[in-house]
Amino acid sequence: MREVISLKELIDQLELLESDVAREIESATETEALEKLRVNLLGKKGRLSAVLGAMGKLPGNERPLVGQRANLLKDQFQKLLEERLQTVKSEALADLLEAETIDVTTPPIGIPSGHRHPLITTKEHIVDLFCGLGYAVAEGPEIETDHYNFSALNIPEDHPARDMQDTFYLEGNLLLRTHTSPVQIRYLEENPPPVRIVAPGRVYRRDAVDATHSPVFHQVEVLAIDEGLDFSHLRGTVMAFLKAFFGDLPVRFRASYFPFTEPSVEVDVQWRGRWLEVMGCGMVDPAVLEGLNLDPDRWSGFAAGLGVERFCMVRHGIDDIRRLYTSDLRFLEQF
Ligand code: DAH
Repeated sequence: MREVISLKELIDQLELLESDVAREIESATETEALEKLRVNLLGKKGRLSAVLGAMGKLPGNERPLVGQRANLLKDQFQKLLEERLQTVKSEALADLLEAETIDVTTPPIGIPSGHRHPLITTKEHIVDLFCGLGYAVAEGPEIETDHYNFSALNIPEDHPARDMQDTFYLEGNLLLRTHTSPVQIRYLEENPPPVRIVAPGRVYRRDAVDATHSPVFHQVEVLAIDEGLDFSHLRGTVMAFLKAFFGDLPVRFRASYFPFTEPSVEVDVQWRGRWLEVMGCGMVDPAVLEGLNLDPDRWSGFAAGLGVERFCMVRHGIDDIRRLYTSDLRFLEQF
């Protein structure tokens, strides 16, 4: 038996649907909810289809009334859904932009600022003190020739002094400089005296690593050539420098030998109850000046070679040279 349904009932249903749906669409706040609503309204098994299905039970002349009304509703729903979807999307975008606002004035977190290595600051401190005395800074290559590293410094081949510095030899008569003294020669070749220079840099020796030795270390070379310089100028300069660097540590000059200076001395400072050698120095040997075509009767001067690691270790109370090379942050952060 056919269920009886009147035109009025169906129109009422459509009107109810119209007011309900407008509210439902308006209160949806997410795209997913809107999509669900669309299926629920306009899908094959949706609420609008249900009304249209029931339309078949009406007399033929009444059906177009319901049909037209339903089609209008369908268009209206689609329009409402589309409008609401755009609103929801742009609100979501606005929320996202709000949430992701970047405050470019906020200071960065979690990136600790670094600082220079104690070896570098020690080298710079040494150089600064000499600059304060009127010295200029010079540099030379770490790969040297036998001539600059040895011969020009009055260390001829087969001279036993070559054994004092166990050398890394490279191909083609080249070597890794064993000291910064070759910069003396290179500088004087280019710059006629009077000169006053410091030359900081890395040097290399075939030494086994222990608490006080490393195959790579740092020196600062000092050179002053002028008329009338004598040992008192050397001593005065060295004492002024050491006092500025170490304060009042006891200092002693000890007679020594270097092929490129005469007389030569080694300078020790007293530290933790022991004498510690920190530099070699002396009056530039006339043979070195003659090799550069400088008249030793007119020009004289002094030179020194400072071990930067030693200065750094005494200054900071570091007991093992290896600490300066192993890049242990727990150690380095102390400085
Ligand atoms: N070049 C020497 C070395 O490395 C150090 C040195 C000694 C340098 C005396 C000098 C000097 O300029 O006069 O052992």
